[in-house]
Amino acid sequence: MRKIAVVTGAARGLGRAIAQRLAEDGIDLSLWDLNADGLNETAAMVRQLGVKAITCTGNCADAKTIAGFVEKTHAELGKINILVNNAALSPFCKFEDLTEELWDNLMAINLKGPFLCCKAIIPDMVEQQWGRVINISSSSAQAGAKSMSHYAASKGGIIGFSKALALEYATRGITVNNVPPNFVNTEGLQEAPIDVDAFAKTTPMQRPGKPRNIAAAVAFLASDDADYITGHTLGVNGGRYTN
Ligand SMILES: NC(=O)c1ccc[n+]([C@@H]2O[C@H](COP(=O)([O-])OP(=O)(O)OC[C@H]3O[C@@H](n4cnc5c(N)ncnc54)[C@H](O)[C@@H]3O)[C@@H](O)[C@H]2O)c1
Repeated sequence: MRKIAVVTGAARGLGRAIAQRLAEDGIDLSLWDLNADGLNETAAMVRQLGVKAITCTGNCADAKTIAGFVEKTHAELGKINILVNNAALSPFCKFEDLTEELWDNLMAINLKGPFLCCKAIIPDMVEQQWGRVINISSSSAQAGAKSMSHYAASKGGIIGFSKALALEYATRGITVNNVPPNFVNTEGLQEAPIDVDAFAKTTPMQRPGKPRNIAAAVAFLASDDADYITGHTLGVNGGRYTN
């Protein structure tokens, strides 16, 4: 069976690193993001590794847009069997400044987006009796994070969602796991109003992670070797949270 993966938020950062690592395993890629230029760059990088790659530009938290992306992927690559829900917003906002609008917008992208992608893509996996869903959560949901109450809540939702979905699909060849990163040096983190190195020093390893560390965990969970692992939270966090 040809492996075909959707990676959301693939225009930069962890999504790009995940796409590159899956391409190294010979997996064809449907790359989704709002940023067309970044997507084109990622697609060119992974094609150099010998796999097919298509790009889908738009909001991957919108049901109609997702339906169009799935249709394009079917036409150009085939049925999807790996879904990496990586796209998210990671804004900092003190609780006293947090508005209902900011909360709703974040939940729509970080929590409802992965739900909608699963709704649209899991039927492909059921048909193939093989599938891998890997949701990128966050160590902030496990250990807390100042000025990120809405973000941590959305990522905690992702962890619970992943565990529950894993149980529902356990007999159908589909695994559902989540990977919570800690501080990984990406464009997204560099834009945050924090001193990344000072923050990273608060973790036992005292340094930020590399995008490749997250990508390797995702590639393992997407592999055949991981077919008895489901409902799992695979922390890649330099020791920040060890439970
Ligand atoms: N970098 C870290 O330290 C860190 C830590 C914990 C969790 N995470 C999680 O890892 C994932 C990737 O993080 P990153 O640092 O690479 O982020 P990033 O901001 O660098 O990249 C996110 C990508 O997602 C895209 N995106 C956002 N909303 C979208 C939407 N609605 N539709 C389509 N595309 C959308 C953006 O355009 C961007 O290309 C996120 O889920 C984030 O919450 C990252």
